[in-house]
Amino acid sequence: MEALKGIRILDMSHVQAGPTCSQLLAWMGADVIKFENPAGDATRGQLRDVPHVDSLYFTMLNCNKRSITVNMKSAQGKQVFVDLLKRCDIIMENFGPGVLDRLGFTWETIHELNPRIVMGSIKGFGSSGPYADFKAYENVAQAMGGSMSTTGVPNGRPFVTGAQIGDSGTGLHLAIGLLAALHQRDRTGEGQYVEVAMMDGIMNLCRVKFRDHQRLTRGPLPEFSVPTHKGMGDVPRGGNDSGGGQLGNAIRCNPGGTNDFIYVVVQEAVWDALAKRVGPEVGMPDLATDPKFATIDSRRRHQSSMWEILGEFALKHDKRELMRIFNELNVPCGPVMGTEDLAHDEHVRGREMWVELDHPQRGKWWNVGMPIKLSASPARIERSPLLGEHTDEVLKQVLGYDDAKIASLRQAGAFAAPPKKAA
Ligand SMILES: CC(C)(COP(=O)(O)OP(=O)(O)OC[C@H]1O[C@@H](n2cnc3c(N)ncnc32)[C@H](O)[C@@H]1OP(=O)(O)O)[C@@H](O)C(=O)NCCC(=O)NCCS
Repeated sequence: MEALKGIRILDMSHVQAGPTCSQLLAWMGADVIKFENPAGDATRGQLRDVPHVDSLYFTMLNCNKRSITVNMKSAQGKQVFVDLLKRCDIIMENFGPGVLDRLGFTWETIHELNPRIVMGSIKGFGSSGPYADFKAYENVAQAMGGSMSTTGVPNGRPFVTGAQIGDSGTGLHLAIGLLAALHQRDRTGEGQYVEVAMMDGIMNLCRVKFRDHQRLTRGPLPEFSVPTHKGMGDVPRGGNDSGGGQLGNAIRCNPGGTNDFIYVVVQEAVWDALAKRVGPEVGMPDLATDPKFATIDSRRRHQSSMWEILGEFALKHDKRELMRIFNELNVPCGPVMGTEDLAHDEHVRGREMWVELDHPQRGKWWNVGMPIKLSASPARIERSPLLGEHTDEVLKQVLGYDDAKIASLRQAGAFAAPPKKAA
């Protein structure tokens, strides 16, 4: 049986941050009703690879959901919303600041309508503080939460990371909050408001950077290969330094293509075996006994020479071969996998992390699988819904509306797109 069987979610979320959360909950068995503006989630039409067909941006973030389109700017649409609200366990949204309030539905109103409902909101910066009124997208949050300033190299520009820590990361945080609130609701009978600000989520994910921020008030950061000194204030961009207690870096492998790199962590315990394997191949048979590299402190001091030696060794092998060699020595390492590598990787396929699906409009396509594996309720991944595909089904099955009621609501504009605002 699915873990969240019986939990119904009124999912007003759009774009990425909210939908990643509700997709995970759907994969855990919740009945997720994607409540869309009749024009549809904007991502349906963004970055299309096939004309007139829901984009991969949409299909990859909205699996296992039902879609209902309701015009919240009509009185009848609002009534449908209220009826659904009373039959759901969770309502979630990630509109811009104040959108739901302007539609007449503050948390207080929602709570009054259904005291048991848990409400999840994602905002760029939360509902309080000087930034509360600002909209946010992924990279805005990465810029403001500390991620960009600590990614890249000291004299270069700050960089965003490819992992969508602002959007999908915030979705994860919200999922945790919603599940905790549901658990409390089950004990008390009362729902609560769960808010996650993207900026807060990024700061949470940058927690160890704030560890380093405070260490800098006492002295330099010896594990960094870039210069640091006491009192420098900002934690510098540390390139590919490990950021942990062990030395680590990415070194180039054969044949030298864009992703021909391997990340190696030179753990304290593995140096002897690593040096014995690497030394003879690079003309340094005594590497393992060389006092310059004998302890972690001396290796830290001579990091750049150590990485040069390991780099010379790496260039003699390709990344897969190196993964084998290093793992045989128990050296933690990771070849830099491109998306093409991952899409064809045996391990990834075996763990159902790259799954093929079918779609009535686009045909066969692929999605990244469910990363949380529950032994008693494994996820069954199903395609995303077409716009409004389940409007009638949900109105009948969840709300008990009959055909006549649906027809009269339709006539009154409950499911039609609101007129466009004058420019
Ligand atoms: C992502 C974001 C910047 C997009 O901004 P946007 O496209 O202007 O969309 P908004 O959420 O601000 O507004 C949605 C509009 O659609 C309307 N709308 C939403 N659902 C509707 C429905 N079912 N029927 C009628 N209208 C609807 C809202 O009323 C609002 O209209 P208004 O501007 O007249 O109030 C913004 O939603 C945001 O900051 N969200 C919070 C942070 C976040 O999640 N960002 C990451 C996204 S991955």
